[in-house]
Amino acid sequence: MKKALLFGITGQDGSYLAELLLDEGYKVVGVTRRVSTGNTSRISHIMDDPSLGLVEGDITDYSSVLRIIEQTNPDEIYNLAAMSHVGTSFNQPILSIDVTCTGCLNILEVLREHSPHTRFYQASSSEMFGDAITERDDDKFQDENTLFNPQSPYAIAKLAAHHATRLYRQSYGLHASCGILFNHESERRGGRFVTKKITKYIARLNQHFLSGGDVESAPKLHLGNLDAKRDWGHAEDYVRAMWLILQQDEPSDYVIATGETHSVRDFLVAAFDQIGVQDYTDFVVQDPRFMRPSEVPYLKGNASKADVMLGWKPKVSFGELVSRMVNYDVSELQN
Ligand code: NAP
Ligand code: GDD
Repeated sequence: MKKALLFGITGQDGSYLAELLLDEGYKVVGVTRRVSTGNTSRISHIMDDPSLGLVEGDITDYSSVLRIIEQTNPDEIYNLAAMSHVGTSFNQPILSIDVTCTGCLNILEVLREHSPHTRFYQASSSEMFGDAITERDDDKFQDENTLFNPQSPYAIAKLAAHHATRLYRQSYGLHASCGILFNHESERRGGRFVTKKITKYIARLNQHFLSGGDVESAPKLHLGNLDAKRDWGHAEDYVRAMWLILQQDEPSDYVIATGETHSVRDFLVAAFDQIGVQDYTDFVVQDPRFMRPSEVPYLKGNASKADVMLGWKPKVSFGELVSRMVNYDVSELQN
């Protein structure tokens, strides 16, 4: 029975990856942080699985990382832990670097010194590309050879962790790989990311109309930049890629993306359409509080390498992603 250790098991991706690994017959150990309120809601449905264990730790604390890896002796480690909100990283840059970059180095150092046989997956990000491509004509895409030009403290931290993972692979022979994942969302997405913010709002608006409210008295949705374009996929597809990456004989880095790009405005239109509203402009307020000091204007990934080497392709389309998220939030609110 293979053993996998997951940093970030309580997050969106961690919860889907834990499900996948349990289905594949793994013993899964997840690292959770001590918090004053619960943070295990995304994994509550698998907590009783005898093949799942949780240990308390924090990725910024080298001693807990060392202890956990030594006690677990895993075949595979997936590092999904991060301060993953780009906007927040502008206000908490040092924490972002500590968690997202130093945290990764803590694991790599433990692997180098104590557990070189363990395979390692690092959650790299398309945010690292930054504004390397600014065209909005949809002809351009990012792949493994595109230059990085990070535009946020989060992206700088991810890029440093990405290079550290490559360096430890090359210098110390670790089986260490990075998935450069483009945006992926789901029913379990955190509420402050733009997609979930929109779909939760749609559910509230739907409820407002169902209870007899009109357009004038409807709540408003406050958003920042509607022109940014993202390559949005579903997290279930993307955790499958993470697992496939660690099953390869040779470690390497892979772009994981759908190859389609849509603006935040496109997402808005598609989400409002789900409840039969054709014009979102009556409901959306552009609010400077949600504009970022620096923006990534355009992301569209080319995942050909993953297709050829891993046999990976996304299954969930943009339209299906939007409708799954809206339907989930509508029924959550109704129940
Ligand atoms: P998420 O929902 O925000 O989950 C982040 C996880 O990191 C949570 O489990 C969180 O624990 C944990 N964490 C935060 N600080 C920690 C610390 N100091 N020590 C240990 N754990 C800590 O993020 P996600 O969307 O699942 O993304 C997973 C990873 O992929 C992240 O590294 C993210 O940056 C990266 N990524 C995400 C996307 C995307 O579009 N989703 C794209 C590219 C890369 P709590 O639950 O206790 O907060
Ligand atoms: N969060 C948020 N809230 N974003 C907004 C808002 C708003 O009210 N209004 C507009 N946006 C814009 C952002 O400026 C950005 O251009 C786009 O919507 C997407 O923002 P997020 O959903 O916060 O995601 P992100 O692209 O910044 O980062 C996500 O994807 C990265 C991969 O490219 C996160 O999951 C990162 O952790 C991940 O690495």
